[in-house]
Amino acid sequence: MSRIHEALKKAEDERAASRQANYIDVNPDVLPRNPIPQMPVESISPAAQNASGQFHAPAAQDVLLSRTIESKWAPEAGTMLFFDEDEQAFGTEEFRTLRSRLYQIRERQPLRKLLVTSALPQEGKSFVSSNLAQVMVRQHGRKALLIDADLRASQLHRTLGTNATPGLAEYLLGENDEFSVMQRGPMENLFFIPAGRMVSNPAELLGNGRLKSLLSRLESLFDWIIVDAPPAVPISDAALLAKYCDGVLMVVRSNETPFDVARKARMEFKDSALVGIVLNGVDGGTSYSKYYYAAYGNEARTGAKK
Ligand SMILES: Nc1ncnc2c1ncn2[C@@H]1O[C@H](COP(=O)(O)OP(=O)(O)O)[C@@H](O)[C@H]1O
Ligand SMILES: [Mg+2]
Repeated sequence: MSRIHEALKKAEDERAASRQANYIDVNPDVLPRNPIPQMPVESISPAAQNASGQFHAPAAQDVLLSRTIESKWAPEAGTMLFFDEDEQAFGTEEFRTLRSRLYQIRERQPLRKLLVTSALPQEGKSFVSSNLAQVMVRQHGRKALLIDADLRASQLHRTLGTNATPGLAEYLLGENDEFSVMQRGPMENLFFIPAGRMVSNPAELLGNGRLKSLLSRLESLFDWIIVDAPPAVPISDAALLAKYCDGVLMVVRSNETPFDVARKARMEFKDSALVGIVLNGVDGGTSYSKYYYAAYGNEARTGAKK
């Protein structure tokens, strides 16, 4: 067994032990296993929905997704890692590793709606969520929806090089249905809901019930729904959003996030399923250092750094 595999195996054993020590705890009360949508979406044919309001039947799903907005994207070179077809680009391997860790976790618990957050701004939430969505759809037939839920400091439309509106804000305000705020760009099977226009009351909008309904209704259309969240420590939006998702992935910026602040952020999610921690912005080096997994969680290091 190579050193990397030994390290991974050891970390897996340690993680299993730490899970038993209640570090990663799934509270069934917060997992919406049979979610009941709170608001009907008038424009969707009832025939395409099941009793829970979710969309079903693959053909019907494709018809629904064809109603999304076809748009031209100009993804930022250098940080949007999977658009230029370079399978070996710096940082891509770490995202493949993260993908396989998430599939391993999914074998043990429901995991489709994933919230990506961190303690503070500028730690790499948008970087991680967007590249994760990209790497997910690199696997044949997998569909991913990326949602920019950082209504206060939306970023994803800039890095993907596309329009910010209409988006989540318009949906939450009841002005648009889900497909008229959802874009499909140049990467097959990758869909995107931008944040939408700036609003004065993001916390109230995120908590008005429509986002919860949106996520539970759309989950049957996608293999992954990745929600790019606001930072957890200064505002409470992320903790609220976590209740609508199956799991939380926390980003910690290497050499920048203060330990106390990261710990405080982690406490924000004590009632949610924290599935792992991504240590972002680690300098390159040996593959051993990049693939190190900490004993206290599923920690993956992303090597790309400015
Ligand atoms: N690992 C990384 N390698 C290169 N650039 C990164 C990395 N992580 C973040 N960045 C860049 O740092 C900036 C802040 O990251 P971002 O994902 O927008 O943070 P957040 O969403 O947490 O506020 C962005 O310009 C982003 O492209
Ligand atoms: Mg962001």
